[in-house]
Amino acid sequence: MPIVVVVGGQWGDEGKGRIVDLLARKAKVVARYSAGNNAGHTIVNERGEFKLHLVPAGIFYPEKTCVIGNGVAVDPEVLLDEIDSLQAKGIDTSRLVVSDRAQMIMPWHKAIDLLDEKSRGNAAIGTTGKGVGPCFADKVARRGIRIADLADPEDLMHQMKSAFEYNNRVITGVYGGEPLVFDDCFAKYRELGRRIRPFVGDSQAIVLDAHRRGEYVLLEGAQGSLLDLDHGTYPFVTSSVPSSSSSGAGLGVGIGPTDIQRVVGVFKSYCTRVGNGPFPTELFDDIADRLRDHGKEYGRGEYGTTTGRPRRIGWLDAVAARYSVRFNSLAAVALTRLDVLDQIKTIKICTSYALDGQVIDTLPPRTSVLERVKPVYEEHPGWMTPTTDVRNFDDLPPQAQAFIRRVETLLECPVDLISVGPSREQAIIVNPIF
Ligand code: IMP
Ligand code: MG
Repeated sequence: MPIVVVVGGQWGDEGKGRIVDLLARKAKVVARYSAGNNAGHTIVNERGEFKLHLVPAGIFYPEKTCVIGNGVAVDPEVLLDEIDSLQAKGIDTSRLVVSDRAQMIMPWHKAIDLLDEKSRGNAAIGTTGKGVGPCFADKVARRGIRIADLADPEDLMHQMKSAFEYNNRVITGVYGGEPLVFDDCFAKYRELGRRIRPFVGDSQAIVLDAHRRGEYVLLEGAQGSLLDLDHGTYPFVTSSVPSSSSSGAGLGVGIGPTDIQRVVGVFKSYCTRVGNGPFPTELFDDIADRLRDHGKEYGRGEYGTTTGRPRRIGWLDAVAARYSVRFNSLAAVALTRLDVLDQIKTIKICTSYALDGQVIDTLPPRTSVLERVKPVYEEHPGWMTPTTDVRNFDDLPPQAQAFIRRVETLLECPVDLISVGPSREQAIIVNPIF
């Protein structure tokens, strides 16, 4: 049975949580494979509106196992708070399993994230400040502490001591920051370890066993492909692998590339980015404000789920999107927030870039070059009518149908799902994804 991956195709916040929530209906296991609580998913269902940072969006369905894979950087305090707040709203969290091999965000990671951003001044990346980057840096430097290490306080103390000493030297020596106190850090993590124990397990076995039994498994991406450490707009990227490449989804839950049957990319009908870095189609006019504040009164505006920062807004960038389709091996596109364009008279799509008098249709690797490209646009007449109640493709206004068909051509990938509002049923299923 298929293992399907859902990835963000742009710079994050494409509406993956919402798409996973819809597709989770058929899955037996829903697993997060990357990032940490820098991610934020908003899900609206009959139980209310939820903002999740670590727990997979499948948690709202009874009888589904939800996995936080080894590729996720887990802040145990944030995870336990999220579990508490779900339980307080009556959501059953007993089917949640966090990988014993997942790296942990430690107090020094959060401190260094903030200090490092400050030290970069104007060149700051605009991170979410949750300690995710420093955590992954320690993982690669083989100094990380994993969820499994919480099991034995003596071993934990030993592991924490050497990581603490190194990182405290960095905090004080490199950044001139305030040193942390070991006993406070240790007491806190020992207690977190006690509380998190019921949720810890072998997540890789859960995914593989479900797959062998012939059950559907959904791998839930976080952030977006253009924030990918390798393929994104480096250095303005995140520090894990949000894409579906075998170093992303497969690695993050512990499966080989041939076990993945299908990758679905989620794209907004326009573009947003939060944090710094190149954004060729960025808009600074009143259309940007209109798109950002669309549905703001219902908490649906373009403001970061994790940080509350206003998101930068732009037209759909088909050059960047097609690149993302290619390196993720996308089989299908889920196009979200079509309804946000309902009252826009003229909709633009960037089809290529102009650079030093030449036209290019790929993303240059250097930030300084990508910052200089000028988007080449084509214009599409808007439909100027609500789409929020449409459930069939053929019932969409002809201009909206033409827009979607054009997106398919430009992205070289079929649009199999369209969302026209935040709730589960506000979706047009063009082709069933499972
Ligand atoms: P970090 O992941 O906190 O290190 O931040 C690195 C970059 O990724 C910054 O531009 C963040 O704004 C961005 N980023 C991280 N997580 C998300 C997300 O879930 N959605 C959108 N942008 C994100
Ligand atoms: Mg988000």
